[in-house]
Amino acid sequence: MITLGIESTAHTLGIGIKIGDKLVNVLDTYQGSYIPRDLAEHHAKFFRPLLESALSSAEISLRDINLIAVSQGPGIGAPLSFGVGMANYLSYKLNIPVIGVNHGYAHVKIVEFTNRRSGDLALYISGGNTMILRVRDLKIIGETLDMGIGNMLDKAARHLGLRNAADLERLALQHDNYLEFPYTVKGMNTTFAGIFTYFVNRANKKLDRVENLAYSLFHTSFSMLLETLARAVFAYNADSVIVCGGVAQSRILNEMLDKFSKQYGVEILRTDNMYNRDNGAMIAVLGEELYMQGYRSSYPLEAIPRYRVSDSLKHYFNR
Ligand code: FE2
Repeated sequence: MITLGIESTAHTLGIGIKIGDKLVNVLDTYQGSYIPRDLAEHHAKFFRPLLESALSSAEISLRDINLIAVSQGPGIGAPLSFGVGMANYLSYKLNIPVIGVNHGYAHVKIVEFTNRRSGDLALYISGGNTMILRVRDLKIIGETLDMGIGNMLDKAARHLGLRNAADLERLALQHDNYLEFPYTVKGMNTTFAGIFTYFVNRANKKLDRVENLAYSLFHTSFSMLLETLARAVFAYNADSVIVCGGVAQSRILNEMLDKFSKQYGVEILRTDNMYNRDNGAMIAVLGEELYMQGYRSSYPLEAIPRYRVSDSLKHYFNR
């Protein structure tokens, strides 16, 4: 079985190929502003070169592919529809099935695939998403009540004239002091608007070293997340937690997770950074697994821009 995975929900176009246990993963990320049409144009420009590069890495031709999997949502209308459209076209052209998958569920699934085991809970943290899931039924048991943690960190970075959260973290790692920041946890949910506003106001006053401001923002917002995660671990009697999504690449978070793991006796399941970013391999992995379980998408597939992860299995019929 050879599965092609297409990821185009936001600024990254990813093409993945799964051949048995082997994964090929190529991607390109648009570096400009978030204008939907520009994202779609970027993906249209890179689709063919990335597809050709993935096929040559996998040492196969297009005709060897048996199944097309695509991120059906959630995502930004224009780039998302481009990927779904390409998946429909390739399915028709190659006369093979197409299956649509939930992008968030794919983030969880790639960690299970690379660890060769499943987890009890998942902490899914990316630009737009911040949630704790029960993996077996994808029930959302905690989430942000306002902004996603990744978007909050990216906005904070741009406020300082930096590119993104990764640049902000490089700055934060040079801190020499921790500053007290507002801390808001509501049960198993979090909110980040308050801490973000506090960061902006304090940065505007220019009284603190920006390294310390950055570190305190990361440390405090991650502490909030881990408090809700600890509550979820006890409430659901969990032994293992999958950590996935773009923010899972954070070094500060991973150091805090090491301590969390020891403190609460819970195993943390992680994956390589190349699979925490948006990518096509995770789409191929989930699409193939669902297909093998008998799930089928109707043709042609339609994009679902607001596709909740808890609805991951609602858009199929079983054959
Ligand atoms: Fe993502």
